[in-house]
Amino acid sequence: MNNLIELSNLNKIFIAKKNLRVLKKINFKFKSGKIYSLMGPSGSGKSTLLNLISLIDKPSSGLIKFNNKQIDFDNNKENDIFRSNNIGIIYQQDNLLPDFNALENVYLASLAAGNKKDFAINKSKKILKLVGLSNRLDHYPNELSGGEKQRVSIARAIINEPKIILADEPTGSLDKKTSEEIFALLKKQVNSNRLIIFATHNRFFAKKSDYILEMVDGNIKSTNV
Ligand SMILES: Nc1ncnc2c1ncn2[C@@H]1O[C@H](COP(=O)(O)OP(=O)(O)OP(=O)(O)O)[C@@H](O)[C@H]1O
Ligand SMILES: [Mg+2]
Repeated sequence: MNNLIELSNLNKIFIAKKNLRVLKKINFKFKSGKIYSLMGPSGSGKSTLLNLISLIDKPSSGLIKFNNKQIDFDNNKENDIFRSNNIGIIYQQDNLLPDFNALENVYLASLAAGNKKDFAINKSKKILKLVGLSNRLDHYPNELSGGEKQRVSIARAIINEPKIILADEPTGSLDKKTSEEIFALLKKQVNSNRLIIFATHNRFFAKKSDYILEMVDGNIKSTNV
């Protein structure tokens, strides 16, 4: 199994009144074909870690490699293109664009990855069908339920067939039944060329992953489920 993401001596310090060392020399390898849950108390650094892996934030020191290629954190343009093509991100709050309907929210992500409009629209329709939303294409985010919004977010995250899906408490604001549906839909997106990392406080979902990762004192402790 290939190591798709490799973290080496990864540190993150937030410089504030008092420097806050959140991630401390993390060394970890994530493999394709697996789903990882990321647990740990509030403030333990889960979102911080996901923001580094999604290249939204920069580490204080240390390396991130994707498929053995080292990320240059100073090359924002290249990293934005890399993210569009390889990383799908899902947040707790849906993060959809409020002035665009479900179909537009998904196909804009395809356009951002350099695809033509016709292709982007057709593919978005197919993916929205896959997540059970064919009858909600023209609904704006404020005309969708919480679960439907997360389905659109999943569709948007997978439209460019990313190798990596990062989800930060994707079911955190949903009721139990909807959470289970969204988690099942997310889990279905793992394939041999893709890995998923999801931060969660829900041990029931964590136990359904391949590995449970716990943030302990700024580091990752891994358990094979
Ligand atoms: N931009 C920032 N500047 C300063 N401190 C920050 C910043 N972002 C996060 N922190 C601090 O870093 C620590 C880790 O935050 P993080 O959001 O990664 O926690 P988390 O594990 O995701 O928590 P939760 O489960 O509540 O989402 C927290 O103590 C937080 O206050
Ligand atoms: Mg968080």
